[in-house]
Amino acid sequence: MKVIILAGGSGTRLWPLSRDRFPKQFIRLSEKRRSLFQETYCRSLLLTEINNIYIATNEKYMYLVKNSIEELGYKINKDNIIIEPEGKNTLPAIYAGVYQTAKNTDEIIVVFPSDHIIQKEQQFISVIQESTDLANDSLITFGIVPNTPNTGYGYIEPGTIKLNGFKVKKFIEKPDYDTAVKYVNLGFFWNSGVFMFNSKLFIHEVMIYENNIYLAFENSKNIGEAFGKIKKSISIDYGIMEKSDKVAVVPLNVEWNDLGTFDAFDGLFVKDENNNIIENKDNIMINSSNNYIYSEDNKLISTIGLNNYIVIDNRDVLMICKKKQSQEVKNIVEILKSRN
Ligand code: GDD
Ligand code: MG
Repeated sequence: MKVIILAGGSGTRLWPLSRDRFPKQFIRLSEKRRSLFQETYCRSLLLTEINNIYIATNEKYMYLVKNSIEELGYKINKDNIIIEPEGKNTLPAIYAGVYQTAKNTDEIIVVFPSDHIIQKEQQFISVIQESTDLANDSLITFGIVPNTPNTGYGYIEPGTIKLNGFKVKKFIEKPDYDTAVKYVNLGFFWNSGVFMFNSKLFIHEVMIYENNIYLAFENSKNIGEAFGKIKKSISIDYGIMEKSDKVAVVPLNVEWNDLGTFDAFDGLFVKDENNNIIENKDNIMINSSNNYIYSEDNKLISTIGLNNYIVIDNRDVLMICKKKQSQEVKNIVEILKSRN
């Protein structure tokens, strides 16, 4: 079994906490003060040994990856870091991982995103271990029972039972709100973003559904050259999971949280008596409730009559957003990019 950790996203919905040069997977958010990437690395070590753990990341995060691992007290072999010269989203990244680790072998691959908080880790690892047989002839997604119609996730309609999971009838990546409401009511799962499959089956499905990626690697001597030939960015969800008829889902009954947006911070951090998450205990919050207030360098923030807001005060940026609209923070980043 090999693990591929995806650590190349830029987490634009958590801007300005998450920056292009220092994205969210490297921010220390958890109580142990480890980054989400470090948590993911330690979780992977519960599943397999260090030499079987690969990290796919962008060139610009290579040192962040290396330093994060060394800080944990491990030394990583340089072949275990898969470098993408440019971000082309998760499908090319995963393909590069499979290409490097298991191109000519039959290997079970587990893919971990690095932007999740998972409690009950041992239970999570057991579910993965129990899914090895199913992974031989299925592309496994691990499903979470939804509690809101979140439009930032993939939705999975389970079909008939297969081993310890279900065949997937339909996989829909990031539906609109009304469709998400319908799917929650119909008992669909969320896609957790963790995948597990046999390397040969995965390569076969990419050959069928995203042939340009398959050919880019077939006709190149290395990953860098292959990336130069890949025409478009595409995620595994849109590229393969929505199209393949080999997808299966295994329910994941563990506490799972994708720190995709600031709204996802609710329920994870300690709150004051008025339901505010505040990083600086000296903040003064009069008649203010249900806010998430972050300030860098312990700057004091005071509010009066402020309800349901997210306030991120960084050294060079102040971002204020209404709760429930934090999916749209990525639009700010788009505008900033278009100015450059
Ligand atoms: N190496 C690499 N290269 N990693 C990447 C790249 C890339 O180009 N782009 C994203 N990633 C990493 C991110 O850092 C993250 O750890 C993981 O891949 C998933 O990417 P996201 O960009 O966070 O995806 P998402 O949250 O919008 O959607 C995915 O996850 C949801 C659950 O959290 C999908 O799989 C959804 O279907 C799923 O519900
Ligand atoms: Mg994510």
